[in-house]
Amino acid sequence: MPKLQPINKLKGFKDVLPEDYVYWNHVLAVADEVMLSGGFDRIDLPTMEKEDLYNRTTGEETDVVGKEMYTFDTSRMIGSKDKKKDKDENIVALRPEITPSMVRAYIENGMQTWPKPISLFTIGKCYRHENPQGGRYREFTQLDAEVFGEEDAAIDASLISLVWDIFQRLKMNDIEVHINSIGCTECKPRIKKMLVDYFKKKQSKLCEDCKKRLKKNPLRILDCKNERCQSTIAGAPVTIDNICEECKKHLMSVLEYLDEMGVSYNLTPNLVRGLDYYNRTVFEVTGKDDRRQNALAGGGRYDYLIEQMGGEPSPAIGFGLGIDRTVDFLKNNNIRIPKPKSKVNIFMIQLGEDAKKIALKKTRELRKMDLSTGIAIGKDTIKSQLRAADKVNALFSVIIGQREAVTNSAIIRDMRDGVQETVELEDLNGRLLNMVEERIKEEEEYKKKAKSK
Ligand code: HAM
Repeated sequence: MPKLQPINKLKGFKDVLPEDYVYWNHVLAVADEVMLSGGFDRIDLPTMEKEDLYNRTTGEETDVVGKEMYTFDTSRMIGSKDKKKDKDENIVALRPEITPSMVRAYIENGMQTWPKPISLFTIGKCYRHENPQGGRYREFTQLDAEVFGEEDAAIDASLISLVWDIFQRLKMNDIEVHINSIGCTECKPRIKKMLVDYFKKKQSKLCEDCKKRLKKNPLRILDCKNERCQSTIAGAPVTIDNICEECKKHLMSVLEYLDEMGVSYNLTPNLVRGLDYYNRTVFEVTGKDDRRQNALAGGGRYDYLIEQMGGEPSPAIGFGLGIDRTVDFLKNNNIRIPKPKSKVNIFMIQLGEDAKKIALKKTRELRKMDLSTGIAIGKDTIKSQLRAADKVNALFSVIIGQREAVTNSAIIRDMRDGVQETVELEDLNGRLLNMVEERIKEEEEYKKKAKSK
């Protein structure tokens, strides 16, 4: 047969292999823990929604929706029965971000009547057809958190402090928080007009993208990364100098609360964020001196969106934290993560055909007793199997060689100190259960003591 060409993964997509999965596990566990201890409830939402949801929330003119969204016409799919029945149902998109689904779910599930504030989070995949490069993927995972029903500045600060806590817990010290206010319905149009007036006069100095932004979303010019625009941007009217008194008061309160909580931040006047729905507080977390690069997390207030989506008016605020970029940050900065706890309590080692049969049977019995048990069938020496047991941090290994198979016995080896004991096969399961339980208790007590020191 001619050698066939293998099929590779799509550009911008990636496989997370076991050596990276330990980082993923750690980041996801810390994120989960911090969010739950912060009073957030976890939910799960579809990765695909009607395209219109994103047009009406994220905004048709944004890069995320206008250029990067994976959109499908399902009526054209082979075998599709609902050809023209419900046009709206036919045009669907993979979510480029999660806030729109959160808002839809909030309205659709009647959360408007629940006691406020409602704090929800979810962790899941998002899709953006971006130009793949360092830290920018076409499929990536976000932790998304939203708080509905509270406009107090304390909520803004406590949400930012939660993001900060996640990164601190991950020992990511070389990061900084950038914060800004982009105003409300009263002052935002005025600021937009000031910017249009300013940038119109300097149009020839702007990049092609900014020329388009001038017509559609002049605020975004402030956030342009193109070198060509920087000197023009530097002379532009500053948003926080021009927001209304109420917005100024709100921003000052957010900053005071952050000071109280010991969260350091930079007031970054050019921070405007790339999605349409924001008002007042916007923030991003980036690597230090890395502001122009990819943000690790970003979010802000969107007090008008729920009403725009057909719900009862309600203030809201949230953030998205990129799990992929966080994992990349840990790895690129050589930040150590805790050694993963052994998931395998027992490792079964066998030598010879009869021993293999016994070992397989015992493995099943032990797993039924909820004792996670590993076995390396393909390896034929005791040494290589012991190495495999070591690699998965097994607590104990069970050795069944030819002699043990004949005498109906097994050797239990403590992988911590190498001490061995021989037991009758019929006593093996009970003895292992006791030993594992004792060891887990010992480790928990040790941890408790270490924490209280
Ligand atoms: P965003 O700034 O578009 O905001 O995304 C949030 C985070 O997702 C980014 O800071 C980044 O870490 C990660 N991210 C975005 N695009 C990519 C990509 N192509 N590859 C890898 N990571 C990426 C939002 O999505 C808003 N929904 C956040 C929010 C929630 N605002 C209010 N509530």
